[in-house]
Amino acid sequence: MPGDFLKTSDFNRKELESLIQSARAFKTGSSALRPLEGKSVALVFFNPSLRTRASMQVGIYELGGNPVILEPGGTSWTLEHREGVVMDGGKTEHLKEFVRVLERYVCAIGVRTFADLQDWETERTDPILRSFAKYASVPIINLESAMHHPCQSMADMMTIKENLGEKKKKVLLTWAWHPKPLPMAVPNSFALAAAQFGHDLRIAHPKGYELDNDLLAEIEGHAAAAGGSVEYTYDVNAGFDGVEVVYAKSWGSKTFYGDSNGDIREREAYRKDWIVDEAKMTRTNNGIFMHCLPVRRNVIVSDGVIDGSNSVVIDEAENRLHIQKAIMAELIK
Ligand code: CP
Repeated sequence: MPGDFLKTSDFNRKELESLIQSARAFKTGSSALRPLEGKSVALVFFNPSLRTRASMQVGIYELGGNPVILEPGGTSWTLEHREGVVMDGGKTEHLKEFVRVLERYVCAIGVRTFADLQDWETERTDPILRSFAKYASVPIINLESAMHHPCQSMADMMTIKENLGEKKKKVLLTWAWHPKPLPMAVPNSFALAAAQFGHDLRIAHPKGYELDNDLLAEIEGHAAAAGGSVEYTYDVNAGFDGVEVVYAKSWGSKTFYGDSNGDIREREAYRKDWIVDEAKMTRTNNGIFMHCLPVRRNVIVSDGVIDGSNSVVIDEAENRLHIQKAIMAELIK
């Protein structure tokens, strides 16, 4: 397996299935591995978090280790990641020193660094996460970057298996209205992992909210190789027809990247219709409802759906703990 966990497509299907098996062993208690005994793992949070932060802290503790939480610009110095810049602005420390010092203390580094939603061509390359991976000699774990949230998508794949079994499913990834544009990491990673696991994936969103073209080509390639399929629709209702999984997420438009007011004006037309509600769920094949959380109730999803018996959002959140323990146990042997 690769030394870092940056995106699921760095791993093959067999390796991903093995991580889920290991996560199940942690969940059921049949594995009590403690590979982090006497070791520390740094968790670098540029952005807020509930699930990722708590599940990583608990996971490291349960594997016998010690989590070291750092918040650049808060509890640690502001960080510059660009090469060759004159650091006469607001940034105090360069990532080169940050990483090289840190890895004298810790055996792995987890990084959360959201997209700034300013410059699409730069952010689609995941520059901060890639800089960590470039400078570090210890494993880097992506805890959500500009483009990917692989720990989330692995917990999602595990949750689908637990609820619906091993066979491929009809899976809908649907855009939802949100008052402001959000990053694309979660939908990117969900679609990528769903394709790698061979599901029949339908992606629904309003015109102009397409995901990255290169990523979609990669997703289509994985789907074909794994015996699945990918289809697209602009129809907010027909997208739900016959699916077994509904995965809701809002994201920003590439057209308005760096222009949040433009995106907010554009999306206003979709405020009323692009919500997951009971009427749409009745079009599914008894579909389960999924969301990475946090979620805005009665904006992204109605109370009735998220509180209903087919909602698995809390299981998804729990599975973050187990899959991240499996990932750490694999990377830090
Ligand atoms: N799903 C997720 O990553 O949640 P947090 O942002 O709370 O970590």
